[in-house]
Amino acid sequence: MTGKTFHIVTLGCKVNQAESEAIAASLQNQGMSLGQHADICIVNTCTITHKAAMQSRQAIRQARKSCPNACIIATGCYAQTDPDRLKKITELDVICNNTEKERLPDIIGDILSTHEKKDRSISSTEISSAWLPQQDDFCYAPPLSSGSRTRPFLKIQDGCNAFCTYCIVPHARGRSRSLLPEGVLKHIGACQKAGYHEVVLTGIHIGQYGLDKTPQTTLTRLLQLIHGSRFDLRIRLSSIEPMELTDDIIHMAAQSDMLCHHFHIPLQSGDNDILQRMHRPYDRNRFAERVSFIRDRLPDAAIGTDVLVGFPDESDTAFENTYELIESLPLTYLHVFPFSPRKGTPAFHFPNPVPAPVIKKRCEYLRNLGIQKKIAFMNAQIGRTAQIVIETRQDLSSGCLKGLTSNYIPVLVDGGDHLKNTNQTVRLCQLKNDTAMKGVLIFGEQGRSS
Ligand code: SF4
Ligand code: F3S
Repeated sequence: MTGKTFHIVTLGCKVNQAESEAIAASLQNQGMSLGQHADICIVNTCTITHKAAMQSRQAIRQARKSCPNACIIATGCYAQTDPDRLKKITELDVICNNTEKERLPDIIGDILSTHEKKDRSISSTEISSAWLPQQDDFCYAPPLSSGSRTRPFLKIQDGCNAFCTYCIVPHARGRSRSLLPEGVLKHIGACQKAGYHEVVLTGIHIGQYGLDKTPQTTLTRLLQLIHGSRFDLRIRLSSIEPMELTDDIIHMAAQSDMLCHHFHIPLQSGDNDILQRMHRPYDRNRFAERVSFIRDRLPDAAIGTDVLVGFPDESDTAFENTYELIESLPLTYLHVFPFSPRKGTPAFHFPNPVPAPVIKKRCEYLRNLGIQKKIAFMNAQIGRTAQIVIETRQDLSSGCLKGLTSNYIPVLVDGGDHLKNTNQTVRLCQLKNDTAMKGVLIFGEQGRSS
């Protein structure tokens, strides 16, 4: 495979991104390199909404235009759930479902060697299958050598057993399964050795981490193990369900700098009837209790949430319940999504859809509320000091570097490119805009470098 090039287009969530990074790392380890006019082009698809599926199809067609001679491979959640639709796309050569993702580097090796032996254009090879990932299938490879990210995503869990009525993900990824704790520790150690200052633990439903193992373990136990290992980097949790964010995890974040002061806990709706019909296992009071519990112990924490707007039968009153709950809580940012019925889920058949213009208006109200909350949170940080991991090289227009605080504030600072991927102390000075702050490096450019 040496001398061959590949290109990856990724749609969807952090887990898909983590898997693309793992695939890229494996291919690079086998001698391939990233390149625009690639021999192999992988489209890692998403199917969370019909729009995401359409964008996945477009990405496949675009890949053929950009790489006319490449072997185009579709993998990911759309390839898993609707291979028949993908088979009709003539630009596509190979369909590889989520189960086979981990084998993708081997599959590519086979494709390339066949191509070389027969000295012909890579022909349509179909490796499609539609079975769901099983308990032992866990697509994973250390995301280290792709080098594109300063905060690598480490996938510790895959799949979901919850079956919320609007969500296709359990159908695309199968039941919950976890990377063994030893594997997690090993890969965090490798990230530290490679000079990273932060690792993001990701999964589809990380609160279910370890429950599939014998003997069972939990996310809380895993974090205690990580804490006990005294790594010299910080750990950020990706989205975690409100009922699975335990008191112990919150206490751990309050007592040490190891765990980022940042929790993303999806609400989806602040109306109890809608929550029930979504099949979400909590009510508005329990959600409010979790947010207040965090805020009492971590006054500076970022607490974000997701809201799904316009679920079938969401009345004005139900929406107001959501709006008022969010307004009353010390949340710091919102991700607002319009509901769109996904074929293959129960909610696709629910009656009383909310008209699109109403959904649009409600989303707008909530997004404005989210901006106000974010601005208020950042204003409260002015004058404080914070640790940032510097992510980007100097931006040509502003001349600034961008870093991220433990509590999830992007901070622009003056400094040289050599500071990329270093951990620095800054004083937070002012708001740059409604999404970022300006800061000053306290120790000049003398911080730790990797
Ligand atoms: Fe989907 Fe619900 Fe599972 Fe999240 S918890 S992945 S929303 S089914
Ligand atoms: Fe999309 Fe699959 Fe993630 S459906 S959002 S890529 S889990």
